[in-house]
Amino acid sequence: MPAQNTAKDENNTPVSQQAARVCVVGAGPSGLTTTKTLLAAGLNVDCYDMSPHIGGHWVIENPNGKSSAYRSLRTNTTKRMSRFSDFDMPADWPEFPTYDYVRTWLEAYVDAFGFRQNISTNTDVVSARPETDGGWQVTLEHDGCRSKVFYDAVVAASGSYWDQQLPTWPGHFDGTIFHAQDYLDPSAPHETKGKNVIIVGVGNTGCELACEIARADAENVYLSARSGTWIMPKTIDGVPAAEGVPMNHPTDDIPLELQRMPQDERELLLENLATQKIKETYGERMKQFEELGLPAAPDRPLLKRPTMSQDLLEHLEKGDLRAMPAIAELHGDHVAFENGETIKAEIIIAATGYKLSYPYLSADIADTRQNDLTLFCGIVPPERKDLFFVGVSRPSGAFWPVAEAQAKFVAALLTGAYTLPNQDELDQRSRPVLNRAAMSPGLYGFALREELARGTHHREGA
Ligand SMILES: Cc1cc2nc3c(=O)[nH]c(=O)nc-3n(C[C@H](O)[C@H](O)[C@H](O)COP(=O)(O)OP(=O)(O)OC[C@H]3O[C@@H](n4cnc5c(N)ncnc54)[C@H](O)[C@@H]3O)c2cc1C
Ligand SMILES: NC(=O)c1ccc[n+]([C@@H]2O[C@H](COP(=O)([O-])OP(=O)(O)OC[C@H]3O[C@@H](n4cnc5c(N)ncnc54)[C@H](OP(=O)(O)O)[C@@H]3O)[C@@H](O)[C@H]2O)c1
Repeated sequence: MPAQNTAKDENNTPVSQQAARVCVVGAGPSGLTTTKTLLAAGLNVDCYDMSPHIGGHWVIENPNGKSSAYRSLRTNTTKRMSRFSDFDMPADWPEFPTYDYVRTWLEAYVDAFGFRQNISTNTDVVSARPETDGGWQVTLEHDGCRSKVFYDAVVAASGSYWDQQLPTWPGHFDGTIFHAQDYLDPSAPHETKGKNVIIVGVGNTGCELACEIARADAENVYLSARSGTWIMPKTIDGVPAAEGVPMNHPTDDIPLELQRMPQDERELLLENLATQKIKETYGERMKQFEELGLPAAPDRPLLKRPTMSQDLLEHLEKGDLRAMPAIAELHGDHVAFENGETIKAEIIIAATGYKLSYPYLSADIADTRQNDLTLFCGIVPPERKDLFFVGVSRPSGAFWPVAEAQAKFVAALLTGAYTLPNQDELDQRSRPVLNRAAMSPGLYGFALREELARGTHHREGA
């Protein structure tokens, strides 16, 4: 890079002589901030979304079938943590906005920066295939018609929480099993009133749904966990707990002593400090969860995504929600658990997370068999310099500003302001992005800025 602009339309006509032509897949928060950032850098950008709406996950009942939003969903990241660097959420909005607020804010972002004309909705990216002499052939489907467009680069911003990970258990079940992605409220898509309901998984989704259904009119509600995780409140005395976490936005200042450390060391130091703080603050509370039947939490809290739940402890204590171990077997209208206990159940909701999937990329380009991707700087596959992943990450804060920081990195690369290191260094410094400790958005933002500053050196060394 800088990418040659070899973009051609269907008639093989060059589109622009100057800037690279980029295909952004997805108009959720990640694709929107990418489109805005790349356009601002002077690139030619087309953003496609299969949905008739922009906003991705935050469009409840999104016709694309990929939204996991339910009616009571609010963000678990504060407005400050979640903002784009140049676009705040209004001051009079709630600290944890509902999905509708987020959607409204994303719509306003597009209008404020005027890039709606660069987004094609109702347009499915069916495939993106690299050409032998560089660039990508992208196959689009709109209104049942397919077309092919050539791009210099592709940004995969198609979301990481949409492909249901639905477990199977031995035996057969007479009741209903469905994934939490399909859940809307205690009556939809299936009525839980008067029923015995098991929710599987103690991530944010499982805990939220279990509490909500426990507050509704179910007969009995059970929360089944095969392993433990740290469960922390969203607010303490009315103040968002996460606001006390330093460097929780990619643009936050980094103390000088951290800046001077090698990246791995500063990340480890922060993880150790966070581990100590989490154990001190929530250790006693975690013991209560264990006494109430949840598995012990891992020794290093940030190695697994911690769960934020305000009400779980109260419901378990009250007894309108019971913690259970993993499901062992299904027996018609009963379910057996690994502790030997068997209960009657009519509904099982699998809040068991998502598979990382890129159906429009071939498996050798996006190898997600380990439910992960190995990327340089969390963005670039080491074997391709014209494909970028934006929005697949494990931040200890909000996703959207992290996606924005990634988009700025892609912009620098595609405009030639930054040059990647040589192949050996790329291979050596590429890391799995999901199977790792949650990363501090502040440290990550700083590491990206640091790498961008090194770009000149790479160019000189090339
Ligand atoms: C229940 C839940 C709650 C969450 N809460 C928070 C929170 O509070 N704070 C936070 O920061 N994060 C939260 N997240 C993480 C969430 O995934 C991100 O907030 C965010 O929506 C990710 O944005 P995205 O653009 O990467 O993906 P998405 O929002 O999923 O958008 C992806 C877009 O890509 C489109 N697309 C996919 N494939 C194609 C294709 N082949 N062709 C064309 N278009 C395609 C889809 O239609 C979709 O519009 C939550 C996730 C879940 C599941
Ligand atoms: N804004 C909000 O309030 C909100 C609400 C919900 C979700 N979210 C976000 O949405 C994202 C996804 O969260 P999530 O809770 O849906 O998924 P998740 O964090 O991946 O949690 C999945 C849970 O299911 C368990 N599980 C997975 N496979 C299983 C199996 N085969 N059998 C039994 N248990 C299994 C996991 O256990 P193991 O740990 O043992 O694998 C884990 O407890 C996260 O980023 C989360 O923060 C936010």
